[in-house]
Amino acid sequence: MTNSTGSSSGVAVITGASSGIGKAFAEHLASDGYNIGLVARRRDRLEDVAREIEARGGSAEIIIADLARSEGLDAVERRIAVGDVSLLVNNAGFQTYSPFVDLSIDRAGEEVAVQVTAVMRLSHAALPAMISRGEGAIINVSSILSFSGSLNQPYMPKRSVYAATKAFVTTFSELLAAELQGTGVRVQALCPAVVRTEFHDIDGKPVLRPNVPVMEPADVIIASLAGLRQGDTVCIPALEDRDRLSAVADANRALFDAGRGAEVASRYR
Ligand SMILES: NC(=O)c1ccc[n+]([C@@H]2O[C@H](COP(=O)([O-])OP(=O)(O)OC[C@H]3O[C@@H](n4cnc5c(N)ncnc54)[C@H](OP(=O)(O)O)[C@@H]3O)[C@@H](O)[C@H]2O)c1
Repeated sequence: MTNSTGSSSGVAVITGASSGIGKAFAEHLASDGYNIGLVARRRDRLEDVAREIEARGGSAEIIIADLARSEGLDAVERRIAVGDVSLLVNNAGFQTYSPFVDLSIDRAGEEVAVQVTAVMRLSHAALPAMISRGEGAIINVSSILSFSGSLNQPYMPKRSVYAATKAFVTTFSELLAAELQGTGVRVQALCPAVVRTEFHDIDGKPVLRPNVPVMEPADVIIASLAGLRQGDTVCIPALEDRDRLSAVADANRALFDAGRGAEVASRYR
């Protein structure tokens, strides 16, 4: 029997399931028949999510893990290596919007650990069983900011490390999806813009620019799962005109072709 991901249910492991987009994924996928593995640091929050899922007849397992630390990552890898995970949602993350020189370098390192290393390692742990079953999916929660390296608008947050981690996630997902073609395993980079979650909180209070369009987490999930069924490797939930993504791919291809010469460009001589 297929569900809203377009495959049969099984175990869905979701990192960062204690709030926001991850919690919305957990609730949606539980109602789809998945047994949910909930990963995050805050036990009380995960217990609340698990109780809600169970109250609706679903099943949930809690894995307390700090993905910035090797013990936490090892614990989730061990769980995934059991081999029954049919959907992995690499969602845990946080922002470090700040000029790079002002950013704590340890905090920046944690961001790379959670948003790059964990995404890569958990995907690596999940794939062998998915490939041998000929079915499975990985949704990597990236951001529309993964495309923002050339944007320097003054109203946009300072985001060198955050956006670079998300650029990793989008590129990794696109190339992994291409490698896995024909295996039955799908990969998606989910690239939302602003979503109403605790991501934007400072000292427990939401801080968002006035008039910025804000999407609800449940709508992000609807778009992601529809995109997965339709075979979208990059899912930008609010993007009406899909040709804009093709235009980025065309521009990248043209740049790649034009930049491959053996001679140094004349302006550098
Ligand atoms: N909200 C937006 O506007 C927006 C836009 C684009 C992309 N995103 C991306 O969406 C993803 C989810 O964020 P959200 O908006 O739902 O924010 P959120 O409500 O703050 O949720 C973040 C989740 O990540 C978990 N997390 C953070 N650090 C962790 C760590 N070291 N180990 C394990 N789990 C950790 C948190 O759990 P614990 O604190 O309990 O560990 C929480 O469950 C992130 O990757 C974010 O970059 C968000």
